[in-house]
Amino acid sequence: MDRKEYKRTSLENWQTMAPGWERRRSELEKVTRSVSEWMVQALAPQPGDTVLELAAGPGDTGFLAATLLGDEGRLISSDFSSEMVEVARRRAAELGLKKVEHRVIDAEEIPLDDDSVDGVLCRFGLMLMPDPEAALAETRRILRPGGRLTLAVWGQAERNPWISIAGRLLAEHGLVPRPQPGEPGMFVLADEDRLRSLLDGAGFAVERVEDVPVLFAFDDVDDYIAGSRETGGMFSRTWRDASDNDREAIRTGLAERFAPFAVDGGYELPGVAVVAAAS
Ligand SMILES: C[S@@+](CC[C@H](N)C(=O)[O-])C[C@H]1O[C@@H](n2cnc3c(N)ncnc32)[C@H](O)[C@@H]1O
Repeated sequence: MDRKEYKRTSLENWQTMAPGWERRRSELEKVTRSVSEWMVQALAPQPGDTVLELAAGPGDTGFLAATLLGDEGRLISSDFSSEMVEVARRRAAELGLKKVEHRVIDAEEIPLDDDSVDGVLCRFGLMLMPDPEAALAETRRILRPGGRLTLAVWGQAERNPWISIAGRLLAEHGLVPRPQPGEPGMFVLADEDRLRSLLDGAGFAVERVEDVPVLFAFDDVDDYIAGSRETGGMFSRTWRDASDNDREAIRTGLAERFAPFAVDGGYELPGVAVVAAAS
């Protein structure tokens, strides 16, 4: 699939998944809050700053930063999916945040002036973009000299059983194509050297790269499937189109492979985010 076609499909997917992300927002936010906290702390925004969040989804990481910007500062909360931008707009209103501008922005072509923002946040977005080099070059261009980017991507598949077990199972059953090298995807920026060299190539000086662990809890396999259908584009499409037999095979496979993570009648599935700060 060429880049344009991938982008079109990806946008369609995120437009469709936005309502599920809104319904699950609070639980996703709790599980991944430590990642947002790391990013905002490392960004260290100052009162009066302009901060841009790219691929913001429901917007929670940016909203955490917004509380530090004071009356003179401003958050631009953005996503390429207009439906996601509306989810973030509703959340900002719920939080009573006033100095937030909501914009539809493709991170690979940012419609902002050179040197116009003080900080950029991008959580779990970069690895899904077909041209992360372009997104980082654009980010460096719109950041003022010395301005900082903090980002998060997912670590290696083996360290993220909360999502990789299901992905592998679907591929083994021939329900999804196996990921091709170089294609965007959950784990394509997991390698620290690759992430550093991308940042370096875009003109950033890398300050820190670290791991932040997360833990997803599920009551049972059906609870896992319900969550994945609401938030995971690939899972939700595959489940919708799967036969009853395939669905049963997935249920059984998940139960077998989740067994090592059984806790108190449910499951706790770990994950690791790789976070980076660069200026
Ligand atoms: C996995 S979600 C992460 C959302 C949010 N940042 C979070 O951490 O909860 C990925 C988000 O990236 C957005 N996205 C994907 N490609 C993008 C692009 N090229 N430009 C801007 N947003 C993009 C999607 O619409 C989606 O909201």
